[in-house]
Amino acid sequence: MGHELSNDDNIWDDAYALDRAHVFHSWSAQANLQPTEVVTGHGSTLQYSDGRELLDFTSQQVNANIGYQHPKVIEGIKKQAELLATIGPQYANLARGRAASLVARRAPEGFEKVFFTNAGADANENAIRAARLFTGRRKILSSYRSYHGNTGAAISATGDWRRKPNDYASGHIHFFTPYLYRSEFHAKTQDEECEFAIQHLKHVIEFEGPDTIAAVLLESVPGTAGIIIPPANYFKKVRELTEQYGILMITDEVMAGFGRTGYWFALDDYNYVPDIITFAKGCNSGYVPAGGVILSDPVAHYFDDRVFPGGLTYSGHPLAMGAIVAAQDAMASEHIVDNAHDVGENVIGPKLRALVNKHPKIGEVRGKGVFWAIELVKDRDTKEFVDDDTMKQIVAESDKRGLIVGTHYNRIHVTPPCVITSQEASDGIDILDEALMAVGC
Ligand SMILES: Cc1ncc(COP(=O)(O)O)c(C=O)c1O
Repeated sequence: MGHELSNDDNIWDDAYALDRAHVFHSWSAQANLQPTEVVTGHGSTLQYSDGRELLDFTSQQVNANIGYQHPKVIEGIKKQAELLATIGPQYANLARGRAASLVARRAPEGFEKVFFTNAGADANENAIRAARLFTGRRKILSSYRSYHGNTGAAISATGDWRRKPNDYASGHIHFFTPYLYRSEFHAKTQDEECEFAIQHLKHVIEFEGPDTIAAVLLESVPGTAGIIIPPANYFKKVRELTEQYGILMITDEVMAGFGRTGYWFALDDYNYVPDIITFAKGCNSGYVPAGGVILSDPVAHYFDDRVFPGGLTYSGHPLAMGAIVAAQDAMASEHIVDNAHDVGENVIGPKLRALVNKHPKIGEVRGKGVFWAIELVKDRDTKEFVDDDTMKQIVAESDKRGLIVGTHYNRIHVTPPCVITSQEASDGIDILDEALMAVGC
């Protein structure tokens, strides 16, 4: 079988034309897409096919933490490709073992084992599976303000719009997590928001029946939902509640992990220890797809003499593992996580906060490290979202001036690579300032 595609000889060197002819894109109606062609990148900048170099304030899917074309990661992948480009998950392999060790050591004490997946969704999928088997319970509680991935249980655990057309898995219950700026609880302070959110979760647990609940699954900083920094004591109190009821806690570090918040794991800034941690994106900055589940010792040992009924052809794929080892080494030796912390504290935070006084449509700025959100509102009292056109214009005005920004609803997400320099961060925010001015924000 098979067939010739009639036009392809004419467009074989044209990335855009081939894309429009044959590539089916994520989360989109296809007809009117106009994808930009990216040729290469370096550090925090990308080069487009028209030759322009743009500073990237998105890190793509908030995954390119180490920036583009990091030479040590490229070298790590090359070396592994030359040695052994593929091997099944049942074998021992040095790159895989080292990657597991390097990832596990970033988790709290008492986490030794890593189950590798292809990405973040299947990390959550398998974390949920492990929690259900370990507890013998079915329900998973997660936040309405969340994204956990595009597979069966992960998308049902997700809170945002993407769950609704895909919600076929059962046993998923949602609740509200702290978000002081748009408080569900009419709270006036972070302390109140924390207290009311905990009371709410307690009620949800009691009404659902604690002995039906396997786990509470939470992003350590809800990312796509708005980079909503949880109150200082929130996770500690969730931990107390879950311990009281024998419920496991799964912390999703897929977006917030590996330097994004200025910590190796975002949970490091909160005083608690979960039972399971999921990760992906920043572990090797997506140079080769990878994710995984870090299991605390009790959960890992539960499967010492019981079969874990889960696996993937590419669990611990050697090229992905080579990329993890090289990325982890480079992040440590080049102090990239400290850089994210310092640039956030000394440049991004102060400069974004200064914009609040200048632009009446900025309702709130929040974040840490290289993980920030700007909420744009028509009116600071009503907090009504600015319209979609305004957001599109901000993207266009930034692009014209050499900056790539990401928007979600009424928010600009400022999420550059962790390697961004102070100068680049400052220049990028100056562009954002001009773009906001240009669109009358
Ligand atoms: C917090 C979180 N969890 C899980 C995922 C899913 O990861 P992936 O797209 O790699 O499957 C994402 C993706 O954005 C995420 O932000």
